[in-house]
Amino acid sequence: MKLLSLTAISVLILSASAAPAQSKTTKAKVAILGGGVAGISAAKNLVANGITDFVIVEARDELGGRAHDIEFAGIRVEKGCNWVQGLGTNPVNQLSKKWGLQVAVNDGTDVVFYDNHGKVNGTKTYNDFNDALDKTYDFALKRVDEADISSRACLNIVGWNPDTPLKQAAEYYAFDWEFAENPDVTSCNYAQVGDASYDGSFGPNSDDDQFVIDQRGFKYIFIQEANQFLKKHDPRLILNTTVKNIKYSDNGVTITAKDGHKIEADYAISTFSLGVLQHNDVTWSPKLPEWKRVGLFGFHMATYLKLFLAWEDQFWDNNQYTVYADPANRGYYKQVTWQNFNAFTPKNDTTNIFFVTVTQDQAYRLEAMSDNDIKKEVTEVVRSMYGSHIKEPTHMYVPRWHSDPLYRGTYSNWPIGELEEHHLNMKAPVGRVWFTGEAMSREYYGYLQGAWIDGGEVGTKVAKCIKNKCPKQPYYPEILLTDEKPKFVKRQEWI
Ligand SMILES: *[C@@H]1O[C@H](CO)[C@@H](O)[C@H](O)[C@H]1NC(C)=O
Ligand SMILES: *[C@@H]1O[C@H](CO)[C@@H](O)[C@H](O)[C@H]1NC(C)=O
Ligand SMILES: *[C@@H]1O[C@H](CO)[C@@H](O)[C@H](O)[C@H]1NC(C)=O
Repeated sequence: MKLLSLTAISVLILSASAAPAQSKTTKAKVAILGGGVAGISAAKNLVANGITDFVIVEARDELGGRAHDIEFAGIRVEKGCNWVQGLGTNPVNQLSKKWGLQVAVNDGTDVVFYDNHGKVNGTKTYNDFNDALDKTYDFALKRVDEADISSRACLNIVGWNPDTPLKQAAEYYAFDWEFAENPDVTSCNYAQVGDASYDGSFGPNSDDDQFVIDQRGFKYIFIQEANQFLKKHDPRLILNTTVKNIKYSDNGVTITAKDGHKIEADYAISTFSLGVLQHNDVTWSPKLPEWKRVGLFGFHMATYLKLFLAWEDQFWDNNQYTVYADPANRGYYKQVTWQNFNAFTPKNDTTNIFFVTVTQDQAYRLEAMSDNDIKKEVTEVVRSMYGSHIKEPTHMYVPRWHSDPLYRGTYSNWPIGELEEHHLNMKAPVGRVWFTGEAMSREYYGYLQGAWIDGGEVGTKVAKCIKNKCPKQPYYPEILLTDEKPKFVKRQEWI
């Protein structure tokens, strides 16, 4: 049997562990670069296809990637991905149920709006914006074969004009808070249709989200999956190893890490984030071909910065969300989404977390500031919302995803003008290096399930390359205007 004989010769060759790190060389059939959700899923599918001779090379000291929880104000909070988005057959939802992940109901309509005079009834404005979003989805589907325009243009065309601070705040809450970028830079054709695909494609009544509060971290379900095929202290898991250079050809791949460790593999699977690929944190020999760079550099790696704050007492509303409409500053801390952690967890008087999410330019601005300056600024903002008696927060944590060379952002967003062909180029293999991750998923671009599903598909494809024949992966040496034939992910309608 082909499968048996392959397994028998899949001997892992490791150099003597006594050798100094600088001269260490590891050989494997497949090198998976990055131990995040896509990497774990790729490994799982290699194993399922009989390929056990692989290594996972991870820069940090644990698996999980952007599923990364941290200690904050006495509890574990999610620095990165935090929601199960789309229930039903969504594989992330399936894993969440399988491993008993603790989640809380997320109710976006449990929101209170403020403006500079105090609490306002924002229900109608918020509903109006959601109606406009539904219309842009229908509009995007109708003009599916036409050239792309921005989500801003689509919103304007269907009649949405955010001419008051409250309307701008409602728009921020329903749009930027999801895409991590504003409608002005976001594609109408691709982002709208792609976003709508996630809930519809997971079966009836799947358009709900859950907020993960599990103290083992969101990563727990992915690590449990990895533990099904990794042994304790498995030498195939190479932690604390940051990839520096990738030398690739049609015959193999040599990976060099910062510490000099070399990994020689028949195939590599890159799970680097789009941001890492765009920042040249990893160098390529030879340089990536132009068609590949055209694919990579046109897309956006967005940043969704959760500024974690905790106070001695809760002074905010009991609603899950608070949205503040600042007359002057769209996207500043006030006109953004505040999240009341107490509304998601069993009441705990010692942990009063009220955190704020900022995106795009505001996130980049914050990341460049010192923690002390951020604390001063955010305390002033909160005082202007709730009164000058409010004390400084007792705890603050500032994730810096955008400046972190291991991530360079939180997740990808489809900007105006990029075509299906650009996306295929971004994803297409070079030599024997394959690419996966949330950004490479066609159907679930930007979503956690995109990383899991695409990672699995690429793992299966690479197994085919080893066992018999590599599946063909299309790419476009040049993308001409006449090639413009977008093929959309169609939302499935359920009755
Ligand atoms: C990785 O680094 C961490 C922290 O620096 C250390 O505790 C751990 O033992 C290291 N693990 C390996 C496998 O080298
Ligand atoms: C509240 O959180 C603290 C800190 O983690 C913990 O020690 C305490 O047991 C928690 N109390 C309740 C009622 O959950
Ligand atoms: C807010 O306005 C909506 C409709 O615009 C109305 O149905 C609702 O009762 C109002 N809520 C309050 C608390 O006044």
